[in-house]
Amino acid sequence: METFLGFWENLSKPIIGLSPMDGVTDFACRYITARYGKPHVMFTEFVTVEGLLHAPERILKDFEYNEIERPIVAQIYGSNPDDFYKATQIVCGLGFDGIDINMGCPAKTVVSRNAGAKLITTPELALEIIRATRSAVQDWTSSQASRKPTPYSVKTRIGFDSVVIEKWVEVLLEEKPAAISIHGRTLKQMYKGSADWEAITRAAQIIKKTKTLVLGNGDVENLSQAKLLIEQTGVDGVLIGRSAIGNPWVFLDSCPAPNRDQRIQMALEHARYYTDKRGDRFIRNLGKHLASYLKHFPDAALLRTKALQAKNFEELKSTLLTI
Ligand SMILES: Cc1cc2nc3c(=O)[nH]c(=O)nc-3n(C[C@H](O)[C@H](O)[C@H](O)COP(=O)(O)O)c2cc1C
Repeated sequence: METFLGFWENLSKPIIGLSPMDGVTDFACRYITARYGKPHVMFTEFVTVEGLLHAPERILKDFEYNEIERPIVAQIYGSNPDDFYKATQIVCGLGFDGIDINMGCPAKTVVSRNAGAKLITTPELALEIIRATRSAVQDWTSSQASRKPTPYSVKTRIGFDSVVIEKWVEVLLEEKPAAISIHGRTLKQMYKGSADWEAITRAAQIIKKTKTLVLGNGDVENLSQAKLLIEQTGVDGVLIGRSAIGNPWVFLDSCPAPNRDQRIQMALEHARYYTDKRGDRFIRNLGKHLASYLKHFPDAALLRTKALQAKNFEELKSTLLTI
């Protein structure tokens, strides 16, 4: 079995990507990031494999994307290999460039169902899940001559309650994923402390002996920091998460800090795109994004409060343009 890299092979290096974030990297966030930040790769929010099979209309909304987002990777999670098989075929059919398996989420609701970071403690199940994903891609591809295979990757943490990343990546490499993204914290740490880039370096040394790519992740705040970490640790690239919220500029080389007017215009374009597709009544879902776009201003608290009171796009626009 050869490692199949698919689109990953054509990315220029170092790879700088938008990390998957549930409740954040939805269709509108990715559209704005693709249009103004142009990271090399972006991930959807994670979507449960069971959900894809049993509540497809709702879940498929999470998988809505625009062509400008390519290469776009769909992230899925769960614990049942059969569900992964079926869900992977749906993802292939939707035309995603890649499939990523979440093996890092620390949320209780996910871990209690043996998914996310819990899979670090059940390596046999983790491998079965990757195998099911690979077979689904193979079967989907071979059933029609025009179909192209979709590469699969894994996003994980450095351990469950202690750092086991070296042993853990050896396990994952048995199934030759195209890429392994590593958030430098254990599940137990959640988001506390700082990301352990030394552990990521040790993992990178192992992964670099294979064709699989390795992406580091955790606490990267800007592009110069990303480049320094890539040089120091030997990873092929990094994923930026929290620092990209309300900040598509984070992916731009030598971009001067955006001014107040540029931030407001970006917040409005984001909100316009979102409400055009979902309707005004869901404008409240933009809270996290609006707060981030506006957080740099001296009157941020007031702005945020007023923006979050808007009931529709027009109200938001007049609020932001008159303050
Ligand atoms: C609000 C939020 C939601 C997240 N959702 C996901 C997710 O759906 N899938 C995933 O693999 N990681 C998820 N993560 C983890 C991030 O992708 C990333 O690994 C983590 O935030 C560390 O990177 P950062 O310091 O650049 O934010 C989430 C993180 C945050 C803050």
